[in-house]
Amino acid sequence: MSQTTKQVTFTISATDGAARRGRIDTPRGDIQTPAFMPVGTAGTVKAMYPEQVRETGADILLGNTYHLMLRPGAERVASLGGLHDFMDWQRPILTDSGGFQVMSLAQLRKLTERGVTFKSHIDGSSHDLTPERSIEIQTLLDSDIIMQLDECLKLPAETKEIERAMELSLRWADRSKTAFNNQANRALFGIVQGGDNADLRLRSAQGLKSIGFDGYAVGGLAVGEPQEVMFRVLDDIVPELPADRPHYLMGVGKPDDILGAIGRGIDMFDCVHPTRAGRHGHVYTRFGVINLKNARHKDDHRPLDEASPNPNCRRWSRAYLHHLVKTEEILGAMILSQINLAYYQELVQGCRVAIEGSRFTDFAAETRAAWAAGDL
Ligand code: GUN
Repeated sequence: MSQTTKQVTFTISATDGAARRGRIDTPRGDIQTPAFMPVGTAGTVKAMYPEQVRETGADILLGNTYHLMLRPGAERVASLGGLHDFMDWQRPILTDSGGFQVMSLAQLRKLTERGVTFKSHIDGSSHDLTPERSIEIQTLLDSDIIMQLDECLKLPAETKEIERAMELSLRWADRSKTAFNNQANRALFGIVQGGDNADLRLRSAQGLKSIGFDGYAVGGLAVGEPQEVMFRVLDDIVPELPADRPHYLMGVGKPDDILGAIGRGIDMFDCVHPTRAGRHGHVYTRFGVINLKNARHKDDHRPLDEASPNPNCRRWSRAYLHHLVKTEEILGAMILSQINLAYYQELVQGCRVAIEGSRFTDFAAETRAAWAAGDL
């Protein structure tokens, strides 16, 4: 095999309407799609051992340039053997580029054509992030799937402002591609921006396609818009993305968003929601979401779901889980993060099987009906 042969490839094995069943092969293992990527922002999926994350069915984690460049620093992670060894997760890692987190977390940001300067939310120190430096950091982390630096706006926003950010993101996409320099052992994904404007989204997708990426992400969604707006943008834009490349919806979402997006041709997702919700006492089951903070669980001796394949759903009473949440015990965060991530993996696995059996629409309807019926 020549050195330039791409080692990250995407294969689609079945389709059902717009929904796709596939596999991304990487040197660190394969990723079954549709895939949900748990978020390991700071080199850990909060409150979980890496092997537990793997046991839920996760094939790939997401890491963050922004957090890791600030603490412990990308050069330090590289000198300690890269992010996989540092955290002992030996399977694929996708890293976000930092653009989104700079916008949502950093203080005193200054955006120019060159990049963005900002002050750390941790200690106020000044930092510089350019498309080239973002690629360099993600390479130092030894990421398997690298994201271009982009500018993500909150919605609603003025059309002129959306256009400016989209055009800037396209120029940064071009610089990212040059800086990436066709590394064979990793993939580079471009990010479609353009807010809720169909025309700008289309121009963004066309610009990215002419640069050429290993995968195409849809960014700038789940930023304050209603679900119907997000679905409309996906209806507009996903058919315009190259069909033979993975389609990744960034930062999404709740289980219902994921079902809707898979039905519109999305292959990959990431979101802090399942682990964050778990830490706040919200737990996902096939009967929908249960708020364990609620006093109605105080004397409830029933487990969360005695028919669940997940032992953690059968092991403890709702009363005990309620107690752990109310007393803010660490074990509560650990159990509920595990249950939520396992539920998300069960959901995407169910979608994969349904697409293979050409029954995705029925599967989505049955899953939603079970959530709506509840268990009480
Ligand atoms: N995470 C969620 N949305 C976005 C986005 O638009 N861009 C990037 N880089 N990350 C995201």
